[in-house]
Amino acid sequence: MAKFDNSFTDELRQRLSLVDVIGRKIPLTKKGQNYWGCCPFHNEKTPSFSVSEEKGFYHCFGCGEHGDIISFTMKSENIDFKTAISELANMAGIKMPELKQKTPEQKQAEENYVKITESAAQIYQDLLYTEIGKVALDYIKKRGFSDEMIKKYRIGYAPKNNIISSKFANTKVDKLVATGLVRVGDYGPYDFFRDKLMFPIFNAHGQIVAFSGRSLDGSEPKYINTTDTELFHKRQTIFGFNFARDAIHRQNRSIVVEGQIDAIQMQNHGFSETVAPLGTALTEDHVAILCKSNRNIVFCFDGDNAGQKAAMRACTLVLPFLRDNSDVRFAFVSGGKDPDEILKNQGEPAMKKIIDNAVPLIDFLWDNVNKNYLINTPNGRTQADKFLKECLSKITDKIFQNEIEQEYNGRKFNQWHKWKKEKYTPEIELPDTDSMTINIIKSIVQTYPEISEKHLDFLSSLNIHFDEDAPKSDLSPENAEKFIVSFKLQKYIQKLDQEKQQILSDLLNNSESNIEKIKEIDEKIKETHEKLELLLDMNNK
Ligand code: UTP
Ligand code: MN
Repeated sequence: MAKFDNSFTDELRQRLSLVDVIGRKIPLTKKGQNYWGCCPFHNEKTPSFSVSEEKGFYHCFGCGEHGDIISFTMKSENIDFKTAISELANMAGIKMPELKQKTPEQKQAEENYVKITESAAQIYQDLLYTEIGKVALDYIKKRGFSDEMIKKYRIGYAPKNNIISSKFANTKVDKLVATGLVRVGDYGPYDFFRDKLMFPIFNAHGQIVAFSGRSLDGSEPKYINTTDTELFHKRQTIFGFNFARDAIHRQNRSIVVEGQIDAIQMQNHGFSETVAPLGTALTEDHVAILCKSNRNIVFCFDGDNAGQKAAMRACTLVLPFLRDNSDVRFAFVSGGKDPDEILKNQGEPAMKKIIDNAVPLIDFLWDNVNKNYLINTPNGRTQADKFLKECLSKITDKIFQNEIEQEYNGRKFNQWHKWKKEKYTPEIELPDTDSMTINIIKSIVQTYPEISEKHLDFLSSLNIHFDEDAPKSDLSPENAEKFIVSFKLQKYIQKLDQEKQQILSDLLNNSESNIEKIKEIDEKIKETHEKLELLLDMNNK
């Protein structure tokens, strides 16, 4: 039977949350580590169907049904494997690959590839401890790497000459080229990495699939990485993940830093859950992989402009993955330093402080928006508002999205619209409001900023001075809002009445159109009265 490449089904499992997919069909509640619901595969009233996001499996303790995201989709919709895959791909927004089975030749090619990269790494490792590698060894030792660390991360030295092409003289050049270690030029094959400090890049199974080489003589670029191959996709590879994976589960969070040396030093200074993207900016795939373990991430970037930009990028990428139990934060290393330098010069406590002081995503986003837009102008506020809305729309959990929106509404009300005496719209001339109503409104404004934000225009038109020390309102949020709305309706009726009086007093130049207008107004007054009555009626219940 034709089969999908495992990497595609793996990607689906990586991209989609099992809890989301099952949660669309049956209500799930979190209890402890797992989610629970009533089994869709047999009849039951008390939940015995458990879903583990972390393990990617569901299990019913009642009927014994058991499986993963794909089998759930197949069984619950009674569809075949291919249809289920295509449905899930659709849900994840990724393209279906061609149906393909790995041919024996492909499998062989993959085996050859890893054999070459693994033995190349060994060659580099051995060279680091010879005379040829002395400069590289001195350098990496100076950067604070012990022999154990060098061994664990399999750090090595690629010499100035073409070592791979010559040591693998009996291997077909094509196979060497496939690993990215060798290229073919006008004068034949040559090594891609020469005179570099070599950092192997491992896949999730701990196999070496690529390398990152650091220049040792100050030449640019500082790092070169294997370009993408059959087995190495930079956008989907996270440096240090194979070493950090267990710790990410244990600590229930991951830390993302900018550079690979930073990641290694962090891992060896008690932050074993640290990883780094590879030579590129963070990608959606990186975030998806991390979120598969858990959705608690501390992004730790340099404090410069580039770091701020990288953090904003990370923020927008992570939004679709946010859940009500995720904890995503942003930390910045200031003074043009990076985590490696902090650890070296100031030690672990200083680094711990930076991580502990990381700002939650909601605050980071809010602060950024307030920095980037001219909040004291209506235009700036509108742009900022649009940007925030766009960000929030990326959050897939609707209840959570709504909750954050409310939070921001409160902030907008309190921070964007300072309730100053001089700030009112004199547009509508309104009769005086009695002092009791004013006091109730003041309390509502103080107690429910998010409700007030919704009725901003109306409230500012009242020309009330909203001071900070109004007492707390004892109305429920619903009744508080009803109070404002009913007051608004009453004001509206007053306004319509005035308009009507105006027309009636001009009765001399009465015309068809004026009579029509009065009819219209009467109609509106009637409607508004009805609304008001309905509202007040509900209030009494
Ligand atoms: P940095 O320039 O911050 O370097 O790049 P670093 O990690 O502090 O390096 P050291 O400490 O001087 O050795 C951060 C990351 O960006 C990628 C690398 O993955 C690096 O770790 N990078 C940087 C490149 O791929 N190419 C470059 O030329 C520079
Ligand atoms: Mn550095």
